[in-house]
Amino acid sequence: MKSATADSIRQAIADFPDPETGRGIDSMGQIVDIQIDNQDARVTIALASHSLPIADEIRQAIGDRITANHPGLTIAVDVVPHPRPPARLGQVALRVKSVVLVGSGKGGVGKSTVAAGLALTLKRLGAAVGLMDADVYGPSIPQLLGLEGRPAINDQKKIEPIRLGSDLPVMSMGFLIEKDQAVIWRGPMLHGSITQFLGDTNWGELDYLVIDMPPGTGDVALTLSQAIPIAGAVVVCTPQEVALLDAIKAVSMFRKVDIPILGMVENMSGFLCPDSGKTYDIFGRGGARDKAQELGVPFLGSLPIDISLREAGDEGKFGELIDSDQRARAPFDAIARALVRGMASRSEQRPNRPTLPTL
Ligand SMILES: Nc1ncnc2c1ncn2[C@@H]1O[C@H](COP(=O)(O)OP(=O)(O)OP(=O)(O)O)[C@@H](O)[C@H]1O
Ligand SMILES: [Mg+2]
Repeated sequence: MKSATADSIRQAIADFPDPETGRGIDSMGQIVDIQIDNQDARVTIALASHSLPIADEIRQAIGDRITANHPGLTIAVDVVPHPRPPARLGQVALRVKSVVLVGSGKGGVGKSTVAAGLALTLKRLGAAVGLMDADVYGPSIPQLLGLEGRPAINDQKKIEPIRLGSDLPVMSMGFLIEKDQAVIWRGPMLHGSITQFLGDTNWGELDYLVIDMPPGTGDVALTLSQAIPIAGAVVVCTPQEVALLDAIKAVSMFRKVDIPILGMVENMSGFLCPDSGKTYDIFGRGGARDKAQELGVPFLGSLPIDISLREAGDEGKFGELIDSDQRARAPFDAIARALVRGMASRSEQRPNRPTLPTL
């Protein structure tokens, strides 16, 4: 067997697809360093923060590639940051790489919970994230995250979003109206407020902008899809058959406005009893997985009914719960990783996305 050299290792992984762009990591200058000491190799790869949520699996996959070419070699893969700012999206020139919508066919299935959970989790796993509440009639994100305050207008005449923790910008109609005040705008104003939230908010540079959609999402999805390229939608549903019919409606609605479906999430999938630790199938379970397969969309994972989620949401402590409670955040971790993994395989099939700056 030929012994490993820096060149032979580079060759083995040169065309490994960068998860964000789908292009070979060598062509993107992401193989930073290769050190070999006898049978030990240490490889340093640079990943953009967009890909950090799946950094562990990328390290593993790169290690496996090298092992396949050089059996017997012990390999350590380190990941360092790869700076790669977003291009400007759409007419509103949003500096965001991936806009992800979270929608459903009917209300109350957990869109806001999933949207907030995804945003917090992608952030926790290393990406730059913003959260936009597009439910202008019934905004629930401020309550869920315990955020209040009036967004200020900065010197550039942009709206300063309210920030959760050190740096998760959040924008919601809830910051602009009094609590319990009803919003009675008609179509054009709805359209205007959505595009204003997108284009006039100082989001900064983001990997992901997660958008919590209102129930019955037709209008808003259309407005969004006309304003900016959307990476795709996550459809939330519950296991009941009726809800699943609604999920089909949601999938076809997004497809109608040419928004790709990034996947389905089954919420309230079984009830984890805090007393006994047993899981009970209140509504049944797994229906969404089957339905996703039938519809040809990815299944991203499921979220059990967890009383701590509801309590934390009611108290405005959802962020604290995700930060501190490993058990509560585990399903969100799995869903967020599945989402990023799915986007990576889309990029691999379709490298050189037009939204990326040409290097
Ligand atoms: N997995 C879960 N476990 C426990 N409670 C949950 C779960 N998912 C959502 N809830 C609770 O159910 C209620 C509705 O959830 P949420 O607000 O996320 O739904 P929604 O689809 O955004 O609703 P709407 O259509 O009104 O916008 C909230 O009180 C939330 O805390
Ligand atoms: Mg909601």
